[in-house]
Amino acid sequence: TSRLYHEKVVEHYDNPRNVGSFDKDDPTVGTGLVGSPACGDVMKLQIKVDENTGKIVDTCFKTFGCGSAIASSSVATEWIKGRQMEEVLTIKNSDIAKHLSLPPVKLHCSMLAEDAIKAAVKDYQKKKAKREDNNSSPPDGQATVVG
Ligand code: FES
Repeated sequence: TSRLYHEKVVEHYDNPRNVGSFDKDDPTVGTGLVGSPACGDVMKLQIKVDENTGKIVDTCFKTFGCGSAIASSSVATEWIKGRQMEEVLTIKNSDIAKHLSLPPVKLHCSMLAEDAIKAAVKDYQKKKAKREDNNSSPPDGQATVVG
């Protein structure tokens, strides 16, 4: 039989990890929604972040795309869970493609996963910055110096 996909792709495709959805309005959630101009496939990847440590405590994805895109998002969620946000920004689509032995024509599929990770982190940071803006109203009293 001809092997269209590497077995690792098939394995992730058959048993994708961390499929699901978080509430995108949850302040601890970052959502990355990206599409591939090459084929029109869409990937949504979400992270749940510990506000104090910046650690990604949970993650999930939904991908409407080819087998390689689904496998790439599944691998991506496995790789980012439990890691720091800054750390996961260094994940390259070529790392994912290599792990899954994707052929060159499928590289753009793993690109979706890299883009989705970055978009999710960016979304979380944007939401956090906005909240901090709202909380930093000027102090209403004068400090009293005693002594
Ligand atoms: Fe479009 Fe794979 S063919 S993401």
